[in-house]
Amino acid sequence: MGEQLRRILEEHQGRYVSGEEIGRRLGASRAAVWKKVQALRRRGFGIEGARGAGYRLLGRPDRIEKGELISRLSPASMWNSFHLFPVTDSTNIRAAHLAEAGAPHGTVLCADTQTGGRGRLGRRWESPPGVNLYVSLLVRPPIDPREAPRLTLVTAVALAEAVEEAAGIPAALKWPNDLYLHGKKAAGILAEMSADPDRLRHVVIGVGLNVNADREDFPAGLRSKATSLKRETGRSHLRVEVLARFLARFEEAYATYLSGGLAALLPRWNRRCLLSGRRLLLRHGEQESRGTAVRVDEEGALVFRPEGTGAMRRIHSGEILAFER
Ligand code: BTN
Repeated sequence: MGEQLRRILEEHQGRYVSGEEIGRRLGASRAAVWKKVQALRRRGFGIEGARGAGYRLLGRPDRIEKGELISRLSPASMWNSFHLFPVTDSTNIRAAHLAEAGAPHGTVLCADTQTGGRGRLGRRWESPPGVNLYVSLLVRPPIDPREAPRLTLVTAVALAEAVEEAAGIPAALKWPNDLYLHGKKAAGILAEMSADPDRLRHVVIGVGLNVNADREDFPAGLRSKATSLKRETGRSHLRVEVLARFLARFEEAYATYLSGGLAALLPRWNRRCLLSGRRLLLRHGEQESRGTAVRVDEEGALVFRPEGTGAMRRIHSGEILAFER
């Protein structure tokens, strides 16, 4: 409701737009325009009305509402079911439950805050309210379960592109699942699948992106390592806009992956690869190795040259314990 009026006011970026023009564009009477203005005000939009000048937008809440999110997506988009929570334990857990209950491919879950946000390797994901994005995507891709981890890389490319568009600064990708801005982590991806031995049932792709978190929103121990779009650009970003960009980018990257494999997305990953050419300490299985990262390959493996040997190794799953800056 009121999405067209919101768009018209936002297009004018704080300048007045006459009631007559709004009425013409909405095909509505002056009285009907006024009612819509009142409805937007009830949703927390600050709208000034001045006789003779019309209406202008003074401010708006940074809240994600279903109607607005849908209005920002293409009508033919793959996203068809939306669950928005003021608070939940973990959107990945909710998504897995919905998936078991038959929720469709193309389901989006988003929470304003999480009480049990989960990171990789059993870690906790800090989820303060009102500032960041905590999103899970439910997809049912027609691929072999062994290929499912590649979706983390597909998601990372989409997220990097969405962040760059929204914030106007370069994003770097740290294999396999982190997004960095100016050398600090701003987002992480946690993809979890459910599969029979030979058939993938679903994949839940969880994304935590620090959008407007300030330094104080992070626990002391994370402040020097974590960042947000706001901290790196010096301005706030509308979460619904960033989310809509990410969903659109994901849809394109996912289609590109299904038709052309990871190879079709690799240039977009490797251009942003934070580790290429850097020395690092890697844990894979029970082993720890030092060496230099080369690139990510078409199977999503990290190509790595261990110290003291000439031979390359391909690491399919592992954790970067430290890397040269
Ligand atoms: C990581 O870097 O360790 C991955 C973090 C993933 C966090 C997101 S927030 C939305 C979704 N729900 C969760 O509980 N985790 C993911």
